[in-house]
Amino acid sequence: MKILILNGPNLNLLGTREKSVYGTRSFEDYFKELEKDFPGLELSYFQSNTEGVLIDKLHEVGFSYKGIVFNGGAYTHTSVALSDAIKAIDTPVVEVHISNVYARDAFRHKSMFAAFCTGVITGFGLESYRLALQYFERLKPKQIGFGVKNA
Ligand code: DQA
Repeated sequence: MKILILNGPNLNLLGTREKSVYGTRSFEDYFKELEKDFPGLELSYFQSNTEGVLIDKLHEVGFSYKGIVFNGGAYTHTSVALSDAIKAIDTPVVEVHISNVYARDAFRHKSMFAAFCTGVITGFGLESYRLALQYFERLKPKQIGFGVKNA
């Protein structure tokens, strides 16, 4: 079961960026732990700071992978193009955030993606990604999506 974890802008700086909000661990380090903890999933990880590159990645995997765990960073709040890409692909997408976006600036309360995602997980630190993977791991392929995609 192929699952992509896709991180958007500035998430390459996890571990050094605003540590009080995002923690002290790099994503590469956390990803190794996820690979160990989810042996039944074929996990891959990709990060880009560039909107078009993220769109290309969604197109590349979005008709064959079983799931995408997407932290779009700030593009979550602004990008019509990325929301169109999520809408266009077949693969179900779970939106994740490390911080609780609803406890932060008002502009972070709006997601351009949420309506086209299976669901949203926000505020659990890096463990937000693990919760999203548990969702994909526990579902039988046919059950993925609740009336959103592949239902
Ligand atoms: C974030 C929240 C966004 O508002 C912010 O722009 C990020 C990270 C999170 O994971 O908490 O870059 O997506």
